[in-house]
Amino acid sequence: MNDFKERIAAELIAVRDRSLAYTEADEDLLVRQHSPLMSPLVWDLAHVGNYEELWVLREAAGIDPVRPEIDDIYDAFKTPRKDRPSLPFLGPAEARRYIEGVRGRVLDVLDRIDLENASPLHRDGFVFGLVIQHEHQHDETMLATLQLSGQPGLVRDGALPPGRDAGPEEVYVPAGGFLMGTDTTPWAYDNERPAHWVDLPGYWIDRLPVGNRAYAAFIEDGGYDDPRWWTPEGWHWRQSTGATTPLFWENDGRSWWRTRFGRTEPIPMDEPVQHVCWYEADAYARWAGKRLPTEAEWEKACGWDPYERRARRYPWGEADPGPSLANLGHRAARPAPLGAYPGGASAYGAEQMVGDVWEWTGSWFHPYPGFRSFPYKEYSEVFFGQEYRVLRGGSWAADPAAVRTTFRNWDYPIRRQIFTGFRCARSELV
Ligand SMILES: [Fe+2]
Repeated sequence: MNDFKERIAAELIAVRDRSLAYTEADEDLLVRQHSPLMSPLVWDLAHVGNYEELWVLREAAGIDPVRPEIDDIYDAFKTPRKDRPSLPFLGPAEARRYIEGVRGRVLDVLDRIDLENASPLHRDGFVFGLVIQHEHQHDETMLATLQLSGQPGLVRDGALPPGRDAGPEEVYVPAGGFLMGTDTTPWAYDNERPAHWVDLPGYWIDRLPVGNRAYAAFIEDGGYDDPRWWTPEGWHWRQSTGATTPLFWENDGRSWWRTRFGRTEPIPMDEPVQHVCWYEADAYARWAGKRLPTEAEWEKACGWDPYERRARRYPWGEADPGPSLANLGHRAARPAPLGAYPGGASAYGAEQMVGDVWEWTGSWFHPYPGFRSFPYKEYSEVFFGQEYRVLRGGSWAADPAAVRTTFRNWDYPIRRQIFTGFRCARSELV
């Protein structure tokens, strides 16, 4: 195998180790549904193998199906998450056997496949990038399921750099054009393409994500009881759910606590707020006299290099996201303290834009001008419209393979079991 193939093989092995680590648990925990929002963990596990079979073995290599009879069970479009517990899905031992069998064949295919081939599925190893990113995304989903399960002792925590309390509250991004999206990043998804110029007026954006201290001030100021800060849909969400805090938060009358992977702990006030839905983020921003950044504002502040006039892969440049640059890839099971990554700042001085928490933007999920669906419509195209809000930047639970300045994630504005936070922006006063 050449170096590039070796790298792909290493990524395949790393992501599988991760999936297996998250499913090293009792059978009951794996087959049970912990929330109607999530699949049973063992469904995710076999689904990633089935997806790999579909795309690498059948589509890219033309190999006959290994187990065609289970395709329907693992088709995410056929059965919504809430109904998946009633599917005849494979049990843990069989699921592990199945994905291991698929993986063996996938490594054989990698060995003999021509990655210079003109087919867009083969070129630059796209199909391997597809399944690697897909599996990492399911691993992040599994972490959200494990958080909802409330079961302690299953998720590894770790050390992170200390925060620092220095620097301006906001950074300024001067008016001008920038190149949004990409034509050249090899494993970029269809929704990140094509690259296109976007002109923006000048604006301010928070240097850091909104922290727990600031968010608690919003709550203590009656933010959840004042319809002035909420959109009509947001206020409806607030009234119908009765929510008065981010998910997993509690107040015992004296201080704030949170439950994180089955353990209750004081809320670290210097961490980015996590587990807020779009409506909460939007209401906070209005209370703070600001707004959520648009997706374009977010991407320019994160990835544009105004000196070189080109987009960077990461806020700091092209270097891989080492532990001093960003909190990605489940180094610890939480966001890092605010200010922990001065070296990871963008050209405009915005920090912690990748890693820590997915950041809600003010934008709906829409195609870029010239969008072409690839390799299938259900990846992005069916989600476009005014139903999903765009999230950017990746969380502590996202892997570097599935995070870049152009990467787009999307979800319903009510969702908050995912590792989401936000930062605010405001237009330049004229
Ligand atoms: Fe999937």
